Amino acid sequence: RKACFRLSTGSKSWDAILNGGFQSMSINEVFGEFRCGKTQLAHTLCVVAQLPKEQGGGEGKVAYLDAEGTFRPERIQQIAERFGLDPDKTVENITYVRAVNSELQDEHVSELNENFASGGYRLLVVDSICALFRVDFCGRGELADRQNKLGTHLRKLCHMAEEFNLVVFMTNQVQSDPGASALFAGADGRKPIGGHVLAHASTTRILLRKGRGEERVAKIQDSPDCPEKEATYIITNGGIND
Ligand code: GTP
Ligand code: MG
Repeated sequence: RKACFRLSTGSKSWDAILNGGFQSMSINEVFGEFRCGKTQLAHTLCVVAQLPKEQGGGEGKVAYLDAEGTFRPERIQQIAERFGLDPDKTVENITYVRAVNSELQDEHVSELNENFASGGYRLLVVDSICALFRVDFCGRGELADRQNKLGTHLRKLCHMAEEFNLVVFMTNQVQSDPGASALFAGADGRKPIGGHVLAHASTTRILLRKGRGEERVAKIQDSPDCPEKEATYIITNGGIND
């Protein structure tokens, strides 16, 4: 049996509420309003995943599925310097895929599934999971179809997490209309999009919000083994930190 591991977030207080970090062989979701650091956390994890296990890393390669066009290799290089890694090699260890519609996003995941068979991958980032599905199925009558397609997509990701001992890390948006649904109500009424299908697929869900000044707050919403605690973090040139 493969030994699962935990991937550090870059922030000690955040790791502490997660018993060490994001867990492999499962789906980890962060959701929150714009600029709270979802993409910056994704970048930080890309670097940390390549660190030795003793440093909270995964000693592995990374795949980054970018649905928003916000991946920046120069940010990876900066973060790599913080952790004492070679900036260019760190970027080279990331398999980057840009998805432009939901159908291609799903095809890319199938292609990555083939890649992962070669071994050595420890992190798959999807930033963000629902955005393209939301654009492609925007009509009221298309909701059931969207949720079906999203469900199939998420089942693939769950399966890959387990088969390849990956941390699957995905970002998600919050509902723009907090009154739209009483389901999944979190702190301040902020709820992730994706409905039951996504709620069912995500093992660990974390709400991110802005705090005082530069501070950001992460709150565990749903986890099999961590209580609903909060941690504060900041975004630095070297990525997520305390
Ligand atoms: P959306 O995708 O728009 O929903 O937002 P997000 O949650 O992905 O936010 P993102 O991770 O892009 O965080 C944006 C924040 O990170 C901004 O407040 C930036 O100031 C900060 N940020 C981005 N790059 C850097 C950097 O190089 N150095 C520092 N210190 N902060 C940065
Ligand atoms: Mg983002």
